[in-house]
Amino acid sequence: MAMVVFGAAGGLGQALTQRLQEVYPQQQIVAVSRQPLDNRLPGVRYTQLGCYDDETLSRWAEDFKNSGATLEGVVSTIGMLHDDETFPEKQLSELHSSNLEKLFHVNAVIPMLVLKHCQPLFDKKTNAFFVQLSAKVGSIEENYLGGWYSYRASKAALNMLLKTAAIELKRSHKKLVLAAVHPGTTDTKLSKPFQKRVAEDKLYEPQLSAKRIVDVINGLEPSMSGGLFHWDGKKLPY
Ligand SMILES: NC(=O)c1ccc[n+]([C@@H]2O[C@H](COP(=O)([O-])OP(=O)(O)OC[C@H]3O[C@@H](n4cnc5c(N)ncnc54)[C@H](OP(=O)(O)O)[C@@H]3O)[C@@H](O)[C@H]2O)c1
Repeated sequence: MAMVVFGAAGGLGQALTQRLQEVYPQQQIVAVSRQPLDNRLPGVRYTQLGCYDDETLSRWAEDFKNSGATLEGVVSTIGMLHDDETFPEKQLSELHSSNLEKLFHVNAVIPMLVLKHCQPLFDKKTNAFFVQLSAKVGSIEENYLGGWYSYRASKAALNMLLKTAAIELKRSHKKLVLAAVHPGTTDTKLSKPFQKRVAEDKLYEPQLSAKRIVDVINGLEPSMSGGLFHWDGKKLPY
């Protein structure tokens, strides 16, 4: 029995690895990242991948299968808002195809490749979950402020892709639930440049967000598959 965290080196990835181990001590927790991790937790199995492309993920899935473990849960934290060359757009004139493509790739394409390669590893007879961290700003209905074109649109695409996969997998994997979860604004590398605008009581520590996300996971049922959920467990509109 194993649960896997993808994007395990990130702020939420590290906190979720720890929280899953606390809440599910009977599970082997596997932490997958492209980066070497210094703060390793005893008992967690760490795997470093070169990147998250089709070929690498396929090889990872083959190794996981050969280990004989049963996959019971996946949390992918993979996502990006900015890097050295990319910053969220305030207006149309800042829109560049390279930024749009990069964010769509990291926020929507990679998570779906992860799901694609995890799907054959789920035991159809066991309750299981696949949770991908998304963002409330990806909700089309709740977009009142505008801006952040690439991030918003790539998370909206992610939500649609997950919903589409949930419809397909409901037929073959009746005990599997797929969900997109909004973690809330959390103090990590991703939110750093924007924290000044966030009220102190609305910026959460990664440990608190991880606790909330695992609570959401505990409340998930197969009938909820394909939904986008707030960290308090409420369903958000797409
Ligand atoms: N922090 C917030 O306030 C907030 C709010 C709403 C939603 N979210 C969502 O929550 C998730 C986790 O965010 P975080 O705050 O923990 O951010 P983070 O510390 O930056 O971690 C994000 C993880 O995504 C992976 N990643 C980043 N850039 C990538 C790239 N170019 N190619 C492949 N993988 C890449 C990395 O995985 P490796 O371990 O492999 O390096 C990284 O650990 C994201 O999906 C984010 O959109 C966060």
